[in-house]
Amino acid sequence: MSSTEPVIRIADLPDRVGQTVTVRGWVTHLRSSGKIAFIVLRDGTGLLQCVVVKKEVDEASWETFGTLTLETSITVTGAVRADARQVGGVELGVTTLSVIGASPLDYPIQPKEHGVDFLLDHRHFWLRTPRQVAIMRIRNEIEQGIHDFFYERGFLRVDTPILTAAIGERSGLFSTEYFDEGNAYLAQTGQLYGEAAAAAFGKIYTFGPTFRAEKSKTRRHLTEFWMIEPEVAFNDTHANMQLQEDFVSFLVQRVVERRRAELAELERDVTKLERIRGPFPRIDYTDAVATLQKKGSAVQWGEDLGAEDEALLVEDYETPIFICNYPKEAKAFYMKENPADPRTVLCDDMLAPEGYGEIIGGSQREDDYDKLLHRIQEEGLPLDAYGWYLDLRKYGTFVHSGFGLGLERTVAWICGTPHIRECIPFPRMMHRLRP
Ligand code: 4AD
Ligand code: MG
Repeated sequence: MSSTEPVIRIADLPDRVGQTVTVRGWVTHLRSSGKIAFIVLRDGTGLLQCVVVKKEVDEASWETFGTLTLETSITVTGAVRADARQVGGVELGVTTLSVIGASPLDYPIQPKEHGVDFLLDHRHFWLRTPRQVAIMRIRNEIEQGIHDFFYERGFLRVDTPILTAAIGERSGLFSTEYFDEGNAYLAQTGQLYGEAAAAAFGKIYTFGPTFRAEKSKTRRHLTEFWMIEPEVAFNDTHANMQLQEDFVSFLVQRVVERRRAELAELERDVTKLERIRGPFPRIDYTDAVATLQKKGSAVQWGEDLGAEDEALLVEDYETPIFICNYPKEAKAFYMKENPADPRTVLCDDMLAPEGYGEIIGGSQREDDYDKLLHRIQEEGLPLDAYGWYLDLRKYGTFVHSGFGLGLERTVAWICGTPHIRECIPFPRMMHRLRP
């Protein structure tokens, strides 16, 4: 191995045409015709065709080529040449080649169809394949976009605890013994802490893992997922929806602008994403139920909407839609009673188009001490765990609103992948804890 040549990442090679460089990566494809051989190398930034000509390399390098297998990690040194036929517009004319780490012939992922269970069992290798790389790069673009969006608008990022005593949502809980303090629960949401922080900093967001012991085996449920939860002092439910609309439009356009190649790898119809700009229709829950009943759904006023109902509602729209002001009994205890119809609360679900379902749940929060206390009691929640939360309504209560965006569902929609298990590096589901 030549130690004097600079080590360059494949994505940066187009700037190095005519130079001799060293590249390190994994073998993804091999082909040889006697005196000339080709290696396609992958280093996480791109693919590179390496050309090995027998009479142009030393004997050891030529012999090394003969030992290569899929996923062997190697170091190659050679000249960067322009070649318009190659991805990235360059190839490498190899002068030396050496192995870093061998890879036995039984590498589990072969260039053929594998079932999804097999792929999930080998998620540590599946992640190396082009489609998965594209999804993770889009996920990363969305994550960075989220931070940029809030930073530019003066929000403070607040990290909230994962071990908690207070329960945030109605869905299943993971609990663990916590010394002499009774049970600790893995956070289903950072929201309640986000509300405390909003009174300290005005505009905040949380970005963290959240946990739900849900026994649902649908394509939109994980037991561990990442949620982004902004909370804004003095925003009412209307301002809350405006923020959601701006936020989601920003994220989609950010991916459309910066991740064209990955969207193409996924064969995503980009024209559908380009249309994602506000305003998004705001539909009252009561009207939505009437529409659904006309479309043949059995849903009754008072019930939460299921996945099938959501799909029926979005089929008439190209952008996300808001369903607003659900019945109190269908939603969490902290939502503010709607003064115009006290049977309902000031909340919204944002449903993504193309049947991807609910990506956001948001609401104005109950800021009246007595009403909130009543709701906590009504839900049978342990009062001692909520004293601090009620305090926020006792000392300088304030109108405030926020929402939670599910990261994996958003990634699934933008990528056009039917199941969210591909949208997180190592998914946790009811029947999956490994790898
Ligand atoms: O609607 P949810 O339960 O709302 C909350 O947790 C509120 N505390 C948010 C807030 O107001 N700060 O969850 C919010 C979003 C859903 O719309 C969905 O996108 C995602 O989180 N989500 C899940 N994603 C994957 N797997 C699950 N099991 C999910 N449960 C919710
Ligand atoms: Mg919800």
